Amino acid sequence: MKVTVVGAGFVGKMVAHRILQRDLADVVLTDIVEGLPQGLALDMMQSAPIEGFSSSIVGANDYAATEGSDVVVITAGLARQPGMSRADLIGKNTQIISQVVREVAPRSPEAVLMVVTNPLDEMVHVAASVSGFDKPRVMGQAGMLDSARFRYFIAEAVGCRPGDVEAATLGSHGEIMVALPRLATVKGRPVSELLDKQTLDSISERTRDGGAEIVGLLKKGSAYFAPSSGTVAMVEAVLKDTKASMPVCAWVTGQYGLSDIFLGVPAKLGRGGVIEIEEWDLDEAELAELHAAAGIVRERVEGLGL
Ligand code: APR
Repeated sequence: MKVTVVGAGFVGKMVAHRILQRDLADVVLTDIVEGLPQGLALDMMQSAPIEGFSSSIVGANDYAATEGSDVVVITAGLARQPGMSRADLIGKNTQIISQVVREVAPRSPEAVLMVVTNPLDEMVHVAASVSGFDKPRVMGQAGMLDSARFRYFIAEAVGCRPGDVEAATLGSHGEIMVALPRLATVKGRPVSELLDKQTLDSISERTRDGGAEIVGLLKKGSAYFAPSSGTVAMVEAVLKDTKASMPVCAWVTGQYGLSDIFLGVPAKLGRGGVIEIEEWDLDEAELAELHAAAGIVRERVEGLGL
């Protein structure tokens, strides 16, 4: 198995490292900065005798080595700089994602494309449009991260193991994320029996602002441990064809009354990418929130003029 990770920044290098440590695949790490992916690859390979993994990684500034990848993870992009508007960021990252996809797609025509670069929904649409890949082979990572944050905050409030919490967020990333506290459970027990509404509301809000909270603390840069965990869980489901269900940004085809858009929904992942979108039994308010999020994503994507 082979995975290309484009962008050797914080998220990209952590994704590459986690893939190696779990021996999921050989990795090609690329970046425009000369020497950066090569240096990181060498450093990671030198940890192999100690860590015991047998997968390998190479770094490159061009795309020749990426040929025949099973999965391509795209983390390349600019982070928002002070004074930069959302529109400026979209313009710059649309250029970067387009250029990257023009390089990787023809070299790995059977790959699953996984976009991590923000603004996520727009960048997934750009990747799908430029690659021309079947829609199930294009997806974005945001829901895994938001859901993990949601699960952790619930676990903290309940006082249980984070892994014992089942909970999800749908819709999109950031202010149009849809939290689903009603469906959250701890070992099968509804969280609504364990936490009051006010606590759950504040947890949903903290989850929605989860990225900003970390940026505020770090001052420079943004989260990368949990984002890379979420991404690698998706990579693993695809490579091992597990059909595990995860909240991902996927192309909807009528589910939840929505179509022709990439949106955060629960989906089973396997070798073909998105195998099936699950239709959960949402109540009226949750469905309305999901439709509102879809409306905003649609507007933003139309603004891209793809
Ligand atoms: N081709 C390849 N790599 C590129 C290109 C390009 N055209 N343009 C930029 N890069 C690289 C940069 O050189 C940098 O190493 O992308 C990397 C981005 O890394 P960071 O700035 O460290 O950003 P990171 O924290 O990894 O986040 C990456 O993931 O979660 C999202 O919002 C986050 O959009 C951001 C992305």
